[in-house]
Amino acid sequence: MRIELMKVNLTQTKRLIRKYHGKKGILIPLLQDIQSAYGYIPTAAIEIIAQELSIFPVDIYGILTFYAQFYLTPRGKHTIKVCQGTACHVMGGKDILDYLSGKLGINQGETSQDRMFSLERVACLGCCGMAPVVVIDNAFYGRATVEKVKKLLLGYRLKKNK
Ligand code: FES
Repeated sequence: MRIELMKVNLTQTKRLIRKYHGKKGILIPLLQDIQSAYGYIPTAAIEIIAQELSIFPVDIYGILTFYAQFYLTPRGKHTIKVCQGTACHVMGGKDILDYLSGKLGINQGETSQDRMFSLERVACLGCCGMAPVVVIDNAFYGRATVEKVKKLLLGYRLKKNK
């Protein structure tokens, strides 16, 4: 299930637009700053940017969907990346991704309703000897299994309650 979009305070967006006023080639740095401020790019911010820079919102969406660094929905507290490179896929990475998708009620690229986890599928992480690989935030977990991932999820949920 995707999380509900919330009402966004656009003060930061307006301040950042002023910061770049009159400069050229500002769109990507401006979007990066807005993502740093909000954790994603709110739809309302896109509308204001389009007005202020006299460009079409669709052109901004084109950039946002081209660059994988940008997110259009709020991110979870933790990001889970499941490698789907060939070695990981063959060794059970798909089962892990399917498990997480079902357990969290989201597809890859989405964030759980409680905003604890965002789920991503990634290409080869360069450590195929440890396949299948799961990365949670900056922690690597090699030779992962659905059972190990169940325990990891539980651990992160318990940390939340401490
Ligand atoms: S295929 Fe997953 S680390 Fe290479």
